[in-house]
Amino acid sequence: MVIKKISILPVFILILMAFQTAPKKQLPAKKPVAVASAGITASVNRGKTIYLERCLACHQVDGGGVPHLNPPLDGASGVLGKDKARLISIVLKGFEDRVELDGEYYSNNMAAHADLSDRQIADVLTYIRNSWSNKADAVTATEVKAVRARIK
Ligand code: HEC
Repeated sequence: MVIKKISILPVFILILMAFQTAPKKQLPAKKPVAVASAGITASVNRGKTIYLERCLACHQVDGGGVPHLNPPLDGASGVLGKDKARLISIVLKGFEDRVELDGEYYSNNMAAHADLSDRQIADVLTYIRNSWSNKADAVTATEVKAVRARIK
C-alpha cells in the first residue's frame, strides 16, 4: 500500500499541474469578451479606419451589406466562426465564389486587398469580428503572416 501511494503521488501532481496550466492557455479563445475589453480595443480602433476606407462601400457602415449584392458581416456565421484562415484569405485574395452564405447568394465580386499589411488585415478582421452585434476573438498579424506565406 505504501509503495502504491508513493508511485501515484507524482502522477497526481502532474495531473494537478495540467489542470492549473490548461485554463490559462485557453483563456484568449474561451473568453473573447474579456479579451475584447482589454487588448483588442486598440486593434478594433485601427481596424475601423481601414474598414471605413476599404470595406464600407460594399458591406455598409452597419455591417448589413446590400441584399443579393454584398453579404452582411454583422451576425454572419463565417465572420464569427473559428476559421480565421478563411477570413484572412478572403481579404488577401478577394472573393467571388458564389457560395451560399447563411442561406443567401451574392452577385458582386470582392476584390483582393493584399496591399494591406499583415497588421492592417488583422486589425480590420478584428474590427468586423467585434463590431455591431459581433463578438469573437482577435485575428493577429502573426496569423495573417502565416496565411499569406501559405497562399503565395
Ligand atoms: C466591391 C465590394 C466589396 C468590398 C470593397 C469588400 N467586400 Fe467583402 N465581400 C463582397 C462580396 C460580393 C462578398 C461575397 C462574394 C461571393 O459570395 O462570391 C464578400 C464577402 C466577404 C466576406 C465573407 C462573409 C461571410 O459571410 O463569410 C468577408 C469576411 C468580407 N467580405 C470582408 C471584407 C472586408 C474586411 C473588406 C475590406 C477590407 C471587404 N470585405 C471589402 C464585396 C466586397
